[in-house]
Amino acid sequence: MLYSNMAHSSEKSPTHSVDQVFYQEADAFFKTHAHTALTYDDITLATRYSDVLPRKAQVDTALSERLKLHIPIISSDMDTVTESEMAIAMALNGGLGLIHYNMTEAQQVKEVARVKNFVHGLIQEPITAKPDQHIGDLLKLIENKQYNFKTFPVVDTHGKLLGLVPSAVVKERYKGRTVKEAMHARKELYTLDEVAIEKDPIAAADAFFNEHLGIHKVLVVDKNDTLRGLFTLSDIERIIEERAATVKPTRDAQFRLLCGAAVSATRTASGDLDKQRILGHVGNLVQEGVDAVAISTAHGHTLGVGETVKLLRQEHPELTLIAGNVTSAEGVDFLADAGADAIKIGQGPGSICTTRIVAGVGIPQMTALYVASKSASRGKVRLIADGGITKSGDIVKAMTLSDAVICGGVLAGCKEAPGKILEINGKLYKEYRGMGSLEAMQAGSAARYGQSNLDKNRKATAEGVEALKEVSGAVRETLLQLVGGLQSGMGYLGAPSLEALHSQARFARITPAGQRESAPHDIIEIKTAKNS
Ligand code: XMP
Repeated sequence: MLYSNMAHSSEKSPTHSVDQVFYQEADAFFKTHAHTALTYDDITLATRYSDVLPRKAQVDTALSERLKLHIPIISSDMDTVTESEMAIAMALNGGLGLIHYNMTEAQQVKEVARVKNFVHGLIQEPITAKPDQHIGDLLKLIENKQYNFKTFPVVDTHGKLLGLVPSAVVKERYKGRTVKEAMHARKELYTLDEVAIEKDPIAAADAFFNEHLGIHKVLVVDKNDTLRGLFTLSDIERIIEERAATVKPTRDAQFRLLCGAAVSATRTASGDLDKQRILGHVGNLVQEGVDAVAISTAHGHTLGVGETVKLLRQEHPELTLIAGNVTSAEGVDFLADAGADAIKIGQGPGSICTTRIVAGVGIPQMTALYVASKSASRGKVRLIADGGITKSGDIVKAMTLSDAVICGGVLAGCKEAPGKILEINGKLYKEYRGMGSLEAMQAGSAARYGQSNLDKNRKATAEGVEALKEVSGAVRETLLQLVGGLQSGMGYLGAPSLEALHSQARFARITPAGQRESAPHDIIEIKTAKNS
């Protein structure tokens, strides 16, 4: 749904004149504060008459006519935030992941393929055994790798299914026996056909376990009897339980999870747009079924980004194109005219950004979003608030003027984010770094900051820092908190949908004392509130 200024139809209470003076609509509020750039913590939203139950508030959104999301949250295309595991988790929970480009193009294409080929609940590369191995080999493997399972499908060198070693025989007393001796042979095994279960694999596996009492694992094979994966009863039960409490996954017409990828607008050594490389790269992503491509740069209101958007729009008329970043109405119009569907708003708000310090530019997010929302193109493009989200209330504020948010920092500590876990003084952390940090630029993201063709003797100028985030749980838990907070906000504002949130929002300026009052204060906190 696109932004509209029309009042929400369930708005029943007449607005009292004193309310009108103190809690203003976006236009009146931001004009009163013209010349002052405000961000999330500078403002608060006034409550309105409501007949909206928070849990019933609809948070569906779209990035283009073709790309719909069930929640308005996108994971950032950063090398410490989004690779396939994060993109899978985002899509499973109704959002979208943008796979970063700090890797080779071939690797990025593979990451997209992983998301597009992912089957929920299916262990796609189960650990297998070969017929001439011994049970003792499997016991060693379990010990070395700390596996918590003892069942092994048996395959030949081409991956063809030969049997299954059940956990009952993976024991010291049988260590001298060969796998071939110990396994259940192929003809004794139940299997599922990958094509037959394609439409709804979870339902198919659930039906299988219901029918076959006492069986806890089932293998999936293709038409050549090649092993394609393994379902376990406990995984299926967990997923079904989770489904009841969460939003629907975002999928394409072929029932595959949605996935986005970022690309850069690089130039050749002579300074021209590297058309051949860009088209080749995006062509390969499209081949794998990518649903959205983001032309990600720190400054999107530039010749190079405009030309890249035009080129891709011409070549891929159906592909959802995201471009950015900009913070002006003119910048939005420029990218919209070039053919972008959705535009990223944000320069310098990110938790790891130093652009405002290093370059002295950038606009705090609420003002940037308001200005962007007044562009002439607002009726035909979607706006994505990128950076600076630290709590669910920020999402509510951002969504009063935009269609989705991009999160980096709030997702970087999740288990699905790339990177190793570090232990420091007994606490667990994951690395989180700006794509404009020196290390990330050396790994490939320099083009994003216009520094890809630097003289070898000249060090790049960093616009981001390397940092740590405390390890948090699964993405699903974080998203449930963020979406729960968004829905609470919608309930307070009487907004049954995100479109209604635009018209229902009334703004007030908040002072530092007001901010202090807004957070827990004058207490001894024994448990820290997360995301709220
Ligand atoms: P959060 O606040 O969610 O912000 O951690 C993530 C967003 O920050 C942007 N980004 C950067 N901006 N220097 C910058 O000025 C950087 O090094 C940098 N790295 C990422 C990006 O828009 C991301 O989505």
